[in-house]
Amino acid sequence: MSDKHRIECLYLSQEDLLRAGCLDLRLAMDAAERAMLAYRDGKILFPEKVVQIFDDATQERINCLPATLLPEKVCGVKWVSVFPPNPEKYGVQNLSAVIVLSEIEKGFPLAFMDGTLCSNMRVGAMGGIAAKHFARQDSSSIAFIGAGEQAKMHLIAMKAAVPTIEECRVSAKYEHEEAQFVDEMTPLFPELRFLSAGTDPEKAMSGADILVTATSAQAPLLKAAWMKPGTFYSHIGGWEDEYAVAEQCEKIVCDDWETVKHRTQTLSRMYKDGALKDEDIHADLVEVVAGEKSGRQNDEERAYFNAVGLAYVDVAIAHAMYLRALEAGQGQTVGIQETMIFQHEQLADWIRI
Ligand SMILES: NC(=O)c1ccc[n+]([C@@H]2O[C@H](COP(=O)([O-])OP(=O)(O)OC[C@H]3O[C@@H](n4cnc5c(N)ncnc54)[C@H](O)[C@@H]3O)[C@@H](O)[C@H]2O)c1
Repeated sequence: MSDKHRIECLYLSQEDLLRAGCLDLRLAMDAAERAMLAYRDGKILFPEKVVQIFDDATQERINCLPATLLPEKVCGVKWVSVFPPNPEKYGVQNLSAVIVLSEIEKGFPLAFMDGTLCSNMRVGAMGGIAAKHFARQDSSSIAFIGAGEQAKMHLIAMKAAVPTIEECRVSAKYEHEEAQFVDEMTPLFPELRFLSAGTDPEKAMSGADILVTATSAQAPLLKAAWMKPGTFYSHIGGWEDEYAVAEQCEKIVCDDWETVKHRTQTLSRMYKDGALKDEDIHADLVEVVAGEKSGRQNDEERAYFNAVGLAYVDVAIAHAMYLRALEAGQGQTVGIQETMIFQHEQLADWIRI
């Protein structure tokens, strides 16, 4: 039998990606910057996502998010589950994802891969790019409300973007989450000084140079008074800060303001309540990456960054990871088909009529 109709793809588990060196926030930031510029130039197809919500109260859902990178000739889809009750109910992660990549010459699959790593790295990478432009480049302290998966990845991204960080303070709903954050992050950054705030957000956040909120709460946890001049704030979750936080920031930047304003984040709430207008937004991040809008202009500015997530960036990061894994010889080639359906010699034995 000829191999002409054989279709195979590379199966990449999270561990394959990690072994290949894909937990590299610079790789992710470069891919994200290229993708944002390509999207603006019309080189990315980005249709509407498909959303299936299983519980309106808890927002348990599975979303299907496709995108095509035309210059790379790659089409991908992220299949992502978000089950917010998971950590408290089952002690397991909230978000899990898989990604399929296909080439667009014959349309055959290239890879079936873990998407959780990529998805969390995308959130970190966008925050990292924003920090490169809006955090003080002598920032020495970072502080978190929320100590979950996004918070951990954000620390890696912020260290990549602002290497001068020396101290990391963390507050969460429970002390054991803070302890787990410190336990898991200390081996990655032995040079950092960690401080658990004993669930006191003010103790963590007050006066830090970089603030991150990454919580599953829907409450105004971060107070404006805790944010000194010159601070960079990365907002990851839903409603996490009082309106006065954004109101006192000289620069508000989003991944895509048109998308953010129709969601349920603090900025979206402010927009719906008339507390924030289009002209209050300094820029979408791509305008800063392209050099069309300014980054930080002095040491006193407070900057606010909010991203809702652009799935074409996930596909771009996944593709960069796939190429790195391929080069590193990681993963397993799996067959999808050996030949076309009616060319299988045993088909008469296999058919059920
Ligand atoms: N912006 C994006 O693109 C994007 C992408 C993925 C996830 N998210 C959002 O990021 C948030 C965090 O996600 P995760 O995967 O890290 O979740 P997680 O469940 O791993 O962590 C949530 C954290 O929030 C903390 N928390 C909850 N209520 C709190 C309170 N009242 N006070 C202090 N801390 C509180 C918990 O202690 C925990 O540490 C979620 O809201 C998620 O929807 C955003």
